[in-house]
Amino acid sequence: MYAELIRALADDLEGGGPTRDLLGGLAEDDADRPTLFVLRLVGGLHRLVLDGKTPALAASYPSVGGAWDREAAWPHVLEALAVHRDALRAALAQAPQTNEIGRSAALAGGVLRVADRFALPVRLVEIGASAGLNLRFDHFRFGSPSGWWGPADSGVSLPGAWEGLSPPVDAPLEVVERLGYDLAPLDVTRDEDRRLLEAYCWPDQPERLARLRAASAIAREVPARLERRSAGDALDDLTLVDGTATVVWHSVMWPYLDDDEQRRVLERLDALGATAGVDRVLAHVRLEPADAYDGGYPVTLTTWPFGEATVIGTAPAHGLPVTWTA
Ligand SMILES: C[S@@+](CC[C@H](N)C(=O)[O-])C[C@H]1O[C@@H](n2cnc3c(N)ncnc32)[C@H](O)[C@@H]1O
Repeated sequence: MYAELIRALADDLEGGGPTRDLLGGLAEDDADRPTLFVLRLVGGLHRLVLDGKTPALAASYPSVGGAWDREAAWPHVLEALAVHRDALRAALAQAPQTNEIGRSAALAGGVLRVADRFALPVRLVEIGASAGLNLRFDHFRFGSPSGWWGPADSGVSLPGAWEGLSPPVDAPLEVVERLGYDLAPLDVTRDEDRRLLEAYCWPDQPERLARLRAASAIAREVPARLERRSAGDALDDLTLVDGTATVVWHSVMWPYLDDDEQRRVLERLDALGATAGVDRVLAHVRLEPADAYDGGYPVTLTTWPFGEATVIGTAPAHGLPVTWTA
């Protein structure tokens, strides 16, 4: 759907139509510094649809019960560009925000390994957490060839989440603290923030939207502390706690950090790791793009004491399925 919609918008932009007028210089700026302006624009359109402001266009959006039809949709897209210009300009000024629940499948397997190895209660710390939905991963349900892990009545059920070697599903897991940090955190108890996250979900991927909504409902029941802080600043203030394993986790946020902040985070983790012991553990679980892994992202686990990094699996960008290799 978005391939067709974006192609139509691109043709209109190149032809000097209303898309060019709306975007102003954004498309040209993007050549110097990627702004993801296309995702901003289609997110803004989806937001109008979800808010019920464009009933005619909604008929082409599967997320609200419509069926995508490029020919039928295009005149209503043009109408929306004209009628809702202010709302779309506001959307263009905002960086896209996503919180992908499928990525919790990688986190769950990493944390289970930490719980299995050290048998300590877990403090979960997420940098680039967005709305912090994945901080509630232990309230989600993950399917694998050997069965399910997680509460049977969870609203977030991810069939086929795990493939390959099974994570240690019998590990004693207790999450005692949930801390999330983001430059632009979203609060799913606010309708406005929840709607924003939904708008960046692609309208013809109803399963992603459904799990986002179900995870938001869980997040309203299971508290987590979410703060507006950069990854570097957040880790500078982090300390380890005796009798716990502190698990620092992040997914698909690393490319947003500049080289200095990336280095700062890694140096801070090493420094914290130097203070770790078997009853005061630090772990780093990450699902991030890497050049060496064509078509998939490695899931990496590092634990201190010892400090060795191991690739324990691979996953596609949205996390499902994770193929566990270690
Ligand atoms: C693509 S989203 C991924 C969100 C979430 N980790 C997930 O996987 O669903 C990237 C997130 O990183 C955040 N971010 C970007 N730069 C950051 C920084 N320097 N420090 C903390 N968060 C940052 C953004 O605000 C955004 O929420």
